[in-house]
Amino acid sequence: MNILITGGAGMIGSHCAEYYAADGKNKVVVYDNLMRSKIFLSGKKSVEYNWRYLHRYKNIVFIKNDIRDSKAVDNCFRRYRPDLVIHAAGQSGVRFSLDNPLDDLSINTVGTVNVLDALRRHNPGGAFIYCSTNKVYGEHVNKVQLVEKKTRYNFRKLQGIPETQTVDHTGHTPYGISKLAGDLYVQDYAHTYGMKTGIFRMSCIYGTRQFGFEDQGWIAWFTACYLLGKRITIYGDGKQVRDVLWVDDLVRAYDAFFKSALKYGVFNMGGGNRQTLSLLELLGILEEITGRKVKVSFKDWRKLDQKVYISDITLARKVLKWKPTIAPREGVGLLARWMKDNKKLFQ
Ligand SMILES: NC(=O)c1ccc[n+]([C@@H]2O[C@H](COP(=O)([O-])OP(=O)(O)OC[C@H]3O[C@@H](n4cnc5c(N)ncnc54)[C@H](O)[C@@H]3O)[C@@H](O)[C@H]2O)c1
Repeated sequence: MNILITGGAGMIGSHCAEYYAADGKNKVVVYDNLMRSKIFLSGKKSVEYNWRYLHRYKNIVFIKNDIRDSKAVDNCFRRYRPDLVIHAAGQSGVRFSLDNPLDDLSINTVGTVNVLDALRRHNPGGAFIYCSTNKVYGEHVNKVQLVEKKTRYNFRKLQGIPETQTVDHTGHTPYGISKLAGDLYVQDYAHTYGMKTGIFRMSCIYGTRQFGFEDQGWIAWFTACYLLGKRITIYGDGKQVRDVLWVDDLVRAYDAFFKSALKYGVFNMGGGNRQTLSLLELLGILEEITGRKVKVSFKDWRKLDQKVYISDITLARKVLKWKPTIAPREGVGLLARWMKDNKKLFQ
């Protein structure tokens, strides 16, 4: 099979690429322009590592290009006619989207339609998986009643946000909107053109080969701060809660959709209500794992931040026959070990 992973140098994309390349049977095409480093101003120290890492697989082909370049995308599809596309390329920073809404729109929405339509033209029988986000629900999530505990907020009654949560009449941030527009296009290509499309609305995915920044990838960012003894700034009181999912568990969910007879699906995806962490709780775990304390300062809440986001993963559990397997404490330990072994990448 031919499998195209856009954003294949990113954290999620590189794990998808490795998963499908590992047994040597598939041809995997990794398409990425390595712009994560520019988006987060990290100066050449992030996804370039993943790009090099994947070169150990002889059955991976590399295309360094922009998903907005329709000619390059078209050439790629003409040549490889992928049976599966995992569209993980995107700009994932809320801060970046607030400062650069047009770039955000062109990467996340126009870039998505570029890739999606190329599949329609070149192999409409192929499957398309879209990395969507919980941010499509915007501030609706903040209307859910909460209870405040010592280290966290919890939903008072709800076990998690279901896929039926409405998406309009609320604030989103440009990032939430550009991803939502992509999400709707991908849904529509199933309805209008009969293509097999799966939309995964993810909250917090974490794992090895993740380069976290203050604006995105908080578990990886906090872990790097502990390893390097850097100060952490928390926006809000630190009791905000996210459900968290180890990246290998996510890739299994994608694969379950691909291999299923389902023609279409929208799934809220994450660790669900049994795998959640507040920022303060993550600090506690990292203190235990690293045996060190770091300085923490608190600033005002970020605009449109969700106080609690927990995915209701009932649908994915049921129809994909899937469940998360790595608990947060274990996952953070795995990530910290990988970062410690590769400390120079973060200095
Ligand atoms: N990681 C999460 O917790 C999370 C949660 C919700 C949604 N998502 C979405 O999942 C996707 C992948 O997330 P990730 O954590 O792997 O992010 P990532 O930043 O590590 O990976 C994205 C990759 O896309 C590439 N890219 C960006 N713009 C591009 C362009 N114009 N052309 C080609 N490549 C481009 C980047 O260089 C990067 O390698 C993103 O679209 C993100 O919005 C991620």
